[in-house]
Amino acid sequence: MKISVLVVDDELLIRKSLSKVLRARGYAVETASTGAEGLERVTAERPQVMILDMRLPDTDGLSVLRRVRQVDPLIQVIVITAFGDVQSAVEAMKLGACDFLRKPYEMEDIVLAVEAAGKQFRQATELDLYRRKAWKNFSGEEIIGRSPGITEVRQLIDKVVRSQATSVLITGESGTGKELVARAIHYRGDRAQAPLMEVNCSSFHENLLENELFGHEKGAFTDASEAKKGLVELCDGGTLFLDEVADMVLPTQAKLLRFIDQRQFKRVGGAQDISVDIRIVAATNRDLEADVRTGRFRGDLYFRLKVVSIHLPPLHERGDDILLLARHFTREFSRKFQKRFDDLSAPAQQLFASYRWPGNVRELRNVIERAVLLEDGERLEVEHLPPELAGRRVSSDDSIPLPTLAQMEADHISEVLRLTAGNKSRAARVLGISRQGLIEKLRRFRIEEVGGRQVS
Ligand SMILES: Nc1ncnc2c1ncn2[C@@H]1O[C@H](COP(=O)(O)OP(=O)(O)OP(=O)(O)O)[C@@H](O)[C@H]1O
Ligand SMILES: [Mg+2]
Repeated sequence: MKISVLVVDDELLIRKSLSKVLRARGYAVETASTGAEGLERVTAERPQVMILDMRLPDTDGLSVLRRVRQVDPLIQVIVITAFGDVQSAVEAMKLGACDFLRKPYEMEDIVLAVEAAGKQFRQATELDLYRRKAWKNFSGEEIIGRSPGITEVRQLIDKVVRSQATSVLITGESGTGKELVARAIHYRGDRAQAPLMEVNCSSFHENLLENELFGHEKGAFTDASEAKKGLVELCDGGTLFLDEVADMVLPTQAKLLRFIDQRQFKRVGGAQDISVDIRIVAATNRDLEADVRTGRFRGDLYFRLKVVSIHLPPLHERGDDILLLARHFTREFSRKFQKRFDDLSAPAQQLFASYRWPGNVRELRNVIERAVLLEDGERLEVEHLPPELAGRRVSSDDSIPLPTLAQMEADHISEVLRLTAGNKSRAARVLGISRQGLIEKLRRFRIEEVGGRQVS
């Protein structure tokens, strides 16, 4: 694809020289001498990269930039500012310009900037296409599995989508499909046209999450130069997906609880109550009930969230689902990478069925993606799979410098004895074995001296 560049500058000489240099590098170049003409061309021709002089005869560059971003947020805009005009460079970057150059600039700098912008455009388009596809295809995104556990999950989803506002708590180990279920609840229900907003509660510091969720008013804190809507407000009518909800700090939990009870909230620093209609879907791979017992998580919030709770069993407990999923992913990646794989060999199937899958469905998917990408054939063979699946040794060399289990056990016992100052009863408790059991192990491993002291 030839990248097209639009040059907006009122100086004829600049337009001419830039066109010449860029055309010589294989770009398609258009020019415009005013802001109005530039905007016209953007709308009509959809260039991929725009070089925009901030100082124009009819209007200022910033307002052109603002309009361009509205017309087509994917266009990469490089702005040219007058020497010393730091302020508009900063403003332009805030408005989403991809780069800026100061006058006077070297031709080579422009060429480099255009090259980088072209690359960014390609990436942005791919991402955008991908996102749109992800949205469109969702109703077809299947939850694979016929095991009792997954059948129950599917039935619960069907029930939940029929009730508009019920909160749902999704639990399960990492990679078991919690996000997939959250998306199913949103896209299969009546809220599908409204947004699904996702927030990972562990990626925000303390009250930043509160700000992200509920927004703030102008001047609420030092950096708040403008009012900002939070996710709760932005997804009105839709679904708020609180991922890793166990990591929410207690003050934010209190705010969330109040919001769930009243279905309204105040922006940070705001006085006005704002009402919204959203469904809350929360997910965690922790034992929230245990967190409630230890006081890390509010019990009242826990019960509000788990009006319906959906548990995703670990993959190794799903029986034949493992093979259904494996086949499904094999075909998916074969299509994607244009390979011929369409099933697993019998030994590979056995391996899949007996492996423990600590990373659950995500791990299974990754294993297959990698195998299909790197190997060729019609059936995935054991040799195509990573060695840890078979518990195969990483190398056939027996001299790998790793301790045996017995050595590790002996070392661990010594360490615990050292920490308990040689007190066998305490050490046994720490190790979870009987005192007699410990004494036997000491004899077997010939552990005598502990930290220079005689074992008591
Ligand atoms: N039953 C299923 N059928 C098809 N694909 C699945 C299934 N379960 C999970 N997947 C896929 O496995 C991957 C991991 O799932 P997902 O991201 O939903 O897991 P998660 O429980 O949210 O993990 P984490 O706790 O690490 O965030 C995704 O690519 C998802 O599409
Ligand atoms: Mg997840």
